[in-house]
Amino acid sequence: MKQVGEFWWRQGVFYQIYPRSFQDSNDDGVGDIRGVIDRLPYLQALGIDAIWLSPIFPSPMADFGYDIADYTGIDPLFGNMADFEALVAAAHESGLKLILDLVPNHTSDQHPWFIESRSSRDNPKRNWYIWHEPSADGGPPNNWLSEFGGSAWEYDAATRQYYYHAFLAKQPDLNWRNPEVHQAIHDVMRFWLGKGVDGFRVDVIWHLIKDANFRDNPPNPDFREGLPPSEKLLPLHTADQAEVHDAIAGMRHVVDEFPSRVLIGEIYLPPERLASYYGRDLGGAHLPFNFALLSAPWNARALEKIIHDYEAVLPTGAWPNWVLGNHDRPRVASRVGMEQARIAAMLLLTLRGTPTLYYGDEIGMHQVAIAPDQVRDPFEKNVPGIGVGRDGCRTPMQWDATRYAGFSRSTPWLPLPDDFRRENVVNLEADARSILNLYKALINLRRKLPQLTDGVYVPIAAQGDLLLYRRQSNDSSALIALNLGDEPVSIASEAAGLSGEILLSTFLDRQGEKVRGALDLRGNEGVIIGTAGAQVG
Ligand code: GLC
Repeated sequence: MKQVGEFWWRQGVFYQIYPRSFQDSNDDGVGDIRGVIDRLPYLQALGIDAIWLSPIFPSPMADFGYDIADYTGIDPLFGNMADFEALVAAAHESGLKLILDLVPNHTSDQHPWFIESRSSRDNPKRNWYIWHEPSADGGPPNNWLSEFGGSAWEYDAATRQYYYHAFLAKQPDLNWRNPEVHQAIHDVMRFWLGKGVDGFRVDVIWHLIKDANFRDNPPNPDFREGLPPSEKLLPLHTADQAEVHDAIAGMRHVVDEFPSRVLIGEIYLPPERLASYYGRDLGGAHLPFNFALLSAPWNARALEKIIHDYEAVLPTGAWPNWVLGNHDRPRVASRVGMEQARIAAMLLLTLRGTPTLYYGDEIGMHQVAIAPDQVRDPFEKNVPGIGVGRDGCRTPMQWDATRYAGFSRSTPWLPLPDDFRRENVVNLEADARSILNLYKALINLRRKLPQLTDGVYVPIAAQGDLLLYRRQSNDSSALIALNLGDEPVSIASEAAGLSGEILLSTFLDRQGEKVRGALDLRGNEGVIIGTAGAQVG
């Protein structure tokens, strides 16, 4: 049964689709909207509740759609507006919500707003972007660095000023100190909300406002070779500025004009800073993305601390969330290994808060090796050789064992890995113990057990490779025991309230086994134990 009502985004499981790589319906090697429609039955069977689509808007594709040239159109590569409307209708008919990517921090340099803005110093849209005089020596106005390498300032010879770009020079930053920019983006939001989309994931939301006085960023004392060059400086004056919360509150107002919509923010910050993005009186993002698991050292004690630290800073009324993968970070199966990928799945789907899955993680797709001549990612092209490349986590979905994995009938835009003939949806569906069937069982169980969505998180002291916690609501509770190591562990603890019945093992084979005061876990095994409320202390 699907979750309905105002707070569907609390109960629901989110699934990110990178549209270029999900399903190609017209055999040009790039995924598209019709492809997503064709695969809705798969998503329904998987059991997810909401799809977040990475950008599908007209774009020169310098950053694969995160450089938008028209906020209210559809790039022909992905289809047209009729296709999009068909997707909204089909998703809703299938009981799925649809979330769009909103990229308000910057546009493409081909966006008509920027073309106007750069045309002259007195153009009405000049102040829609961040223009500045050169410094005394004619160089950039200050030391701010682009995330993708080099100075964040690009000189425009025609008007003899620099413009700021936090990412590529082809992605000029909008000026969020200008109220007209707020209005323009709010109109964009209303356009899509009016078409029935269920909310937005807002790109780099913590970057929107930069220091009004353009002060230099200080050096990062922890910088070392091998980190992206932008990390030489601390982004003290270029991100996470106090005024950003006003901009977010404005977006939230727009979202609230429509019933039951959700505002999600992309934010890479430590937990105590992240917490502020729920906003004053919780009028900020409903879900400031929590990326703590993306860079977590994969051991029980580190994870226990991460969960604790996050839970500890959540403001009253704030709803948590967890993310295991996205289109910018290495695949979870490669970060933690195939055995632990199952533990990661059980963790994601039993923690308190909305889980977001990244397409392909449910079939254990790993980071695909990309030959130098196949690199597409501009970040890797600008900053080669230190492993920042994002192509390896953006490869085509592996549907079946046919030539192009059922993704397309012509050469895909990124290569498939050698093992796709084995590691694909068709094969894994047929294998009762596959990671795909584990994901389905986890999502299904989460839907069935209210304590997994609504219950509080209760840590239980454990040692070594064991991560132990309970999810408890008024009259029911579940105990989750995860073995983060590859050696067996035995737990015998009255304190843990260890009695009940195994509802699910990550190996999909111990269901129904009774547990009375002791539990043996195999290496890399996790279990969910259903315990009656009375039995837990
Ligand atoms: C976000 C996106 C990333 C993009 C960047 C610039 O971090 O997730 O893919 O490159 O913003 O838009």
